[in-house]
Amino acid sequence: NIYCVIMAGGIGSRFWPLSKRESPKQFLDILGTGRTLIQMAFERFSSVCPQENYYIVTNEDYKDLVLEQLPMLNPEQVLLEPIMRNTAPCIAFANYKIKQRDKNARIIISPADHLITNETEFLNVINEGLNYVNNTDKLLTLGLKPNRPETGYGYIQVENKILDLGISKVKTFTEKPNLELAKLFVGSGDFFWNSGIFIWSLSAIDAAFKDYLPDIESLFSSGENISDEASEKEFIDKIYPECPNISIDYGILEKSDKVYVFCADFGWSDLGTWGSLYIRSNKDEAGNVVQGDNVMLYDSENCLINVPKEKLVVVQGINDYIIVDSEDTLLICKKENEQDIKTFIGDLKVSQ
Ligand code: GDD
Ligand code: MG
Repeated sequence: NIYCVIMAGGIGSRFWPLSKRESPKQFLDILGTGRTLIQMAFERFSSVCPQENYYIVTNEDYKDLVLEQLPMLNPEQVLLEPIMRNTAPCIAFANYKIKQRDKNARIIISPADHLITNETEFLNVINEGLNYVNNTDKLLTLGLKPNRPETGYGYIQVENKILDLGISKVKTFTEKPNLELAKLFVGSGDFFWNSGIFIWSLSAIDAAFKDYLPDIESLFSSGENISDEASEKEFIDKIYPECPNISIDYGILEKSDKVYVFCADFGWSDLGTWGSLYIRSNKDEAGNVVQGDNVMLYDSENCLINVPKEKLVVVQGINDYIIVDSEDTLLICKKENEQDIKTFIGDLKVSQ
């Protein structure tokens, strides 16, 4: 059977101050479509995965938010993490649950905060990918042609040099390279971006955990015989803090030689930062993206302005800035320096 795991426990810190600990971006209608990012992610797989085979892995603080936004879920399908430990433990947690139901499962792993514009092509890729991983130990990730030296992504070098689109064995996988390396990768032409969307069989990912993240694997398998809900919660709360804080990309994809990439083109965007939202959005003649109903702009170009709907905001003589006004915080930051937002938050935590 097919299972779908949506990873929704990040705090989306680069979307600060709109995305915060209490309301991370996956629970926001950041595109103004009337649906939140996690709702869009859920619907994306509804023709492939039966509703009862979804798992949403998130922090326990977001349980109510998830159930409010995805009321069709049974509470047991929301897997609650007591603390953030990045995506490797999150995936191991889902494996632990799926194993109790179906040892022959095939699993789609999806982030909660991406935008996909060509859903038809995307579903073709997902279906083909699911067939590809059936009864194999291959780990499949979806890859996309890079168009800028983004340092926040994983870069995949394909073995098959002439490959344009289609499946290839992965030669190297480099998670979050520095700018110099990223430029080299993009320039060379045989690298793809890792989308962070994965397809594999339960047995393949389980074997990879045994090989590359044995600590996490043995922590979870020590609870294999637990059968009631209360003891399971107690078990998870106990082992989670002991899990190393590591992403699946660093932990497994960079290391395993069983990784394959499906290079595809389905209009993908990681809504990771304000800049990525700016790129995706419709702009006025001066290149401004305005989210807010009462904004007056003069002599200003290429700005992204996100302010409360009713608030009157006047901006004059400002180019290439991000201006975000949330309830209690105002951010004004040069677009090209948006990666610094993580630093601001860090400093904030230190000073509080
Ligand atoms: N449950 C849970 N717990 N989910 C988490 C956690 C966690 O501790 N940490 C992150 N997530 C969720 C996020 O909410 C997001 O949906 C997804 O996992 C990916 O995490 P990010 O933190 O957004 O990863 P990234 O963007 O830095 O990098 C990943 O995605 C890139 C493409 O968007 C990597 O896979 C890169 O290789 C890839 O290029
Ligand atoms: Mg991301």
